[in-house]
Amino acid sequence: MSKTHHVAVIPGDGIGPEVVREGVRVLERVASLHGFQARLTRYPFGAEHYLKTGEIFPESAFSEVRQHHAILLGAIGDPRLEVGLLEFGIIAKMRFELDLYVNLRPVRLYAEHLCPLKDTRPADVDFIVVRENTEDAYAGMRGFFKKGTPDEVATQEIIFTRKGVERAIRYAFDLARKRARGRKLTLIDKANAVRAMDLWTRTFAEVGAEYPDIAREHNYIDAACMYVVRDPGQYDTVVTSNMFGDIFTDLAAMIQGGLGIAASGNIHPGQVSLFEPIHGSAPRHAGRGVANPIATIMAVNMMLDDLGESAAATHIEDAVAGLLRSKKLPSLGTDSGFSTSQIGDLVLEAIDQVRAPA
Ligand code: IPM
Ligand code: MN
Repeated sequence: MSKTHHVAVIPGDGIGPEVVREGVRVLERVASLHGFQARLTRYPFGAEHYLKTGEIFPESAFSEVRQHHAILLGAIGDPRLEVGLLEFGIIAKMRFELDLYVNLRPVRLYAEHLCPLKDTRPADVDFIVVRENTEDAYAGMRGFFKKGTPDEVATQEIIFTRKGVERAIRYAFDLARKRARGRKLTLIDKANAVRAMDLWTRTFAEVGAEYPDIAREHNYIDAACMYVVRDPGQYDTVVTSNMFGDIFTDLAAMIQGGLGIAASGNIHPGQVSLFEPIHGSAPRHAGRGVANPIATIMAVNMMLDDLGESAAATHIEDAVAGLLRSKKLPSLGTDSGFSTSQIGDLVLEAIDQVRAPA
């Protein structure tokens, strides 16, 4: 009996539906090659749905979505709506209410010509960032006082809990142990200025004592932004807080070839997790068929790895790596000269070229 994975698919806004269509084609192809089933349930949530119905993400649908084994998301966000309304009502809702406490961001350069840094080879860019995903300024503890007056006060609390910090750090140590490469974990914080981050420093040292085989390093976020551009090869596994992780991983995405390739997993180990490209809905490119679907295809790769389909996941990664090395795509942006579905076709061809599974 072949295994069946139940996947909730939320294509979302802007280019989301276009890139998700290609991600799903790839998912279906590897499922048939590797002998498992992917049973998809599509959900319409996003700007159009909200404008038509006034619904953001109703509880009935949410409780259905969480019954799935995984969630695949395209992109959320629309300039016609209030900033943050859908981002918080859909993406952040899932991160918080499903307690997806790790935002995992692999940063790998598959082909030298995709890196904007000179003399940087694929072997120099191969690290993974563990971004804490449920705390920090994202917790929504905010307020406005005397709003709209010259005396306005705006506050938003940064919160860290021992539990939240520790589970992110533990996940990162375990991951560093599994990775063949560096056996090194770098903590990125700003404990010199944001003294609340002393909780990160102490927890890192305490948990680290249980992992004597993993070398520990510590960078402040401002310095890390310099180092990653100057010498990305120094990083193997990185752990950091929610907001620094948000910024650092966009910077890191550029080093691996940009938003056309960067994917992320919002993970609670052993429970339903959410996979998405890190790019947004790119409203000005929506409907033009020019968005690169490879980031979503790499989100499918991460999802399959999480679902225990590691051979299928590796198959996708090898196919994408081969395609990128072939230089058939001159760039990973919207100017590649290939349409979204043509890039999907190229990935499917590459999947068929990669050695078929035994
Ligand atoms: C990301 C995005 C989100 C974030 C936004 C859409 C709220 O930038 O997934 O990195 O800041 O976490
Ligand atoms: Mn971001």
